[in-house]
Amino acid sequence: MTTFRNRVAVLHGVNFDVLDRRDAAVYGGISLSELERRISDWAHELKLEPIFFQTNGEGEFCEYLHRSIDLADSIIVNAGAWTHYSRAIADALELARLPTVEVHLSDVESRDDWRKLSVFDGLVLAKVSGKGPDGYREALELLARELGAGS
Ligand code: DQA
Repeated sequence: MTTFRNRVAVLHGVNFDVLDRRDAAVYGGISLSELERRISDWAHELKLEPIFFQTNGEGEFCEYLHRSIDLADSIIVNAGAWTHYSRAIADALELARLPTVEVHLSDVESRDDWRKLSVFDGLVLAKVSGKGPDGYREALELLARELGAGS
């Protein structure tokens, strides 16, 4: 029997529920539901099954990561500002033990100094930053290759 591992949990953290109200020059003015629609289309083209989750609660984000081993085969994480300081989320991500790609819509390297630090360093396969929504497509491609999806 072949096991087909193709589920990708796409996790958005704090302030992504109001993505369309955030600085359009930085985040493109796109809503979270439009972003998720695009990710879903790209995922299906790659024979991946996306599962979406967003919360503004750090504890809830950790609890989702605790459950992710039963829900998904891989993770795309954009934890927003938590990326830069939440050791609790980094510990929960480590616990999840799933191939993970970190994505940022904006180029975190060329903004404020505090955004250059990611607590997920060393826990993720790759970090894609500054490519807008297309960054998620790149992340999906990396995970499809990692999971051997569609092959
Ligand atoms: C972000 C970058 C973070 O620094 C910021 O706090 C966000 C969004 C991005 O997608 O560019 O909330 O993760």
